[in-house]
Amino acid sequence: MTMTYKNILTAKEAVGAKSGKADQPEINIGVVNLHRPTVLNALNHELMEELVTALEDFDRDDSVRAIVLTGSDRAFAAGADIKEMSDETTVSIMLKDRFATWDRIKNIKKPIIAAVSGFALGGGCELMMMCDIIIASETAQFGQPEINLGVIPGAGGTQRMTRVLGKYKAMELILTGRPLTAREALEMGLVNKVAPVELYLEEAKAMAKEIAAKSPIAVKLAKEAVLKSFDGPLQEGLQFERKNFYMLFSSEDQKEGMKAFMEKRKATFTGK
Ligand code: HXC
Repeated sequence: MTMTYKNILTAKEAVGAKSGKADQPEINIGVVNLHRPTVLNALNHELMEELVTALEDFDRDDSVRAIVLTGSDRAFAAGADIKEMSDETTVSIMLKDRFATWDRIKNIKKPIIAAVSGFALGGGCELMMMCDIIIASETAQFGQPEINLGVIPGAGGTQRMTRVLGKYKAMELILTGRPLTAREALEMGLVNKVAPVELYLEEAKAMAKEIAAKSPIAVKLAKEAVLKSFDGPLQEGLQFERKNFYMLFSSEDQKEGMKAFMEKRKATFTGK
């Protein structure tokens, strides 16, 4: 059954030509496109619910062996939806527990290959870092600009970025909010490959198809084992980061930072 979604598009693509033999299983890759073009794919809750539902459907579908997650050439995702968050308080944001949806991405057993072009900022960069392989276009830019909104990354940015880039580069990016170019990200090991904008999606699909032809059980266990080496104390770090993120919704700076973004002006922070 093909689901219809409001904020994403999904498709299955066959791997190789069908042999016609009855005993040959059908092999596909699943493709998910983030699709809120008017807001650069800002990740609101409805989009995240749809995304996770689609990923879980592909994970259950035996014909799908690998998943490609992409956005548009202009934006993978420009972050969590600031309009949706701007009026939250520490209590309201904790009670909503939106990260429960994000957490489900960690349980997807099939490899997810991110095909990233344009903006991958804030929650967009964090979502990308939850994927297993990253193919970027030459126009991609990566960053954690939350500091400019008076908050901090909340979906794993302080933990995953630090594990990949090391303490000093991660500090620089998270404390200044400055983005990295695709070339810089490649040099630092944040992405696997950089391709021209006309090719990045095809390259990601080609890699997904290469993996799709392997033993699905071996692929699943290999992903699980690699993540084990990476995720050990991650859980604690994620909880810690989440508490601090929630806490900032008690500050005047969060209100000012998000309001200033929506009013298209520079924020004035007071430290309160
Ligand atoms: C809501 C957003 C948005 C966002 C862009 N838009 N990013 N809406 N949330 N994160 C909207 C804009 O308001 C605008 O809507 C439209 O998308 C086009 O954006 P522009 O700003 O006009 O485009 P441009 O001048 O090209 O600038 C692109 C940009 C800028 C540099 C990416 O949009 C930007 O700085 N966006 C915010 C990036 C950010 O701070 N991300 C982190 C968010 S916090 P209108 O209606 O005006 O046309 C976060 C926390 C994660 O992610 C926590 C865990 C989930």
